[in-house]
Amino acid sequence: MSLKRRYLMCRPTHFAVTYRINPWMDPTAPYDNALAISQWENLRQAFLGLGHTVDLIDPLPGLPDMVFAANGGTVVGGRVLGVQFRDAERADEAPAYASWFRERGFEVHEPKHTNEGEGDILLAGDVLLAGTGFRTAHASHAETQEFLQRPVITLQLVDPAYYHLDTALCVLDERRIAYLPQAFSPGSQSVLRQLFPDAIIATPEDAAVLGLNAVSDGETVVLAEQATHLAAELRAAGYKTIGVDMSELRKAGGGPKCCTLEVRP
Ligand code: ARG
Repeated sequence: MSLKRRYLMCRPTHFAVTYRINPWMDPTAPYDNALAISQWENLRQAFLGLGHTVDLIDPLPGLPDMVFAANGGTVVGGRVLGVQFRDAERADEAPAYASWFRERGFEVHEPKHTNEGEGDILLAGDVLLAGTGFRTAHASHAETQEFLQRPVITLQLVDPAYYHLDTALCVLDERRIAYLPQAFSPGSQSVLRQLFPDAIIATPEDAAVLGLNAVSDGETVVLAEQATHLAAELRAAGYKTIGVDMSELRKAGGGPKCCTLEVRP
C-alpha cells in the first residue's frame, strides 16, 4: 500500500485568538500571526518532503480557527461527511469546506447533528473511532456510520483540555494507535485496551504539549517537537519521527493534526 497521502490545509493568514471555546485559548494573551504562518509553512514542507500532496483551501477573514482543517470534514472512500460546529464562532467554516469538496467533484453529506470532522472522527484500519463529550454529538455517530459505511466505535472524552479525540489519540497505522488513557471514561479505556492491546500509552506530559495531535502516514509520524518522550516511544516501536514546533497554533488548542485533513480516495 502506498504511503503517499493527500492532505488539505488552510494557511493561517487570519489566525488569531479572539474567543475562548477550549481551555487552551486565552483571548487576552499575545499571539504572533507571522510566527503561526511560519510554523504552519514548516509543517506543510514536512509533508511535501515526505512525498505527500498538500491541497490548500483559501482562508477566509473573520474565521481565525479555519487553519484547523481537520475540522473541515471526514473523508473516507472519496465520500465526504460534512461538518456542523458546536460553536457559532466557527459555523461559517462548514460551508466553505463543503464547497471546496463539491467544486472538486466529491459527494458531501450535510450532517444533521454536530460533528467536527477529523477532530473527533478518526479512521483506524476498518473502523472509525468517534469521540464525544465536548464537541461532536453522540447522535452524529450513527449518522457517520450510515454515511461512511464503516463501523463506528464511540469513545467518551472526559477531560476538557482534550476536547477533540485527535488531541488525546493518534492513529499510527492500520493496527496501532497512541493515546492518553486518562482523557477517556473508564468504559472507553476498556474498549481501547480490547481493540488495541499493543497501543502506545502517552504520558500526561506528552499530551500537554499536544504530542498526540500527530499525523502518521503509517511509517513517519509528524508531531510536536516538545513531545520528546512520545517521540522516543514511537521510534522504539519502529516509526520514524519528525518534530515540528506548533507552539503558536497551540495557543488556540491545535497541533499538526488539527491543521491537516486527510483526503482519502
Ligand atoms: N480553536 C479550535 C477549536 O477549539 C482548535 C481546533 C483544533 N482542531 C482539532 N482538530 N483538534 O475549535
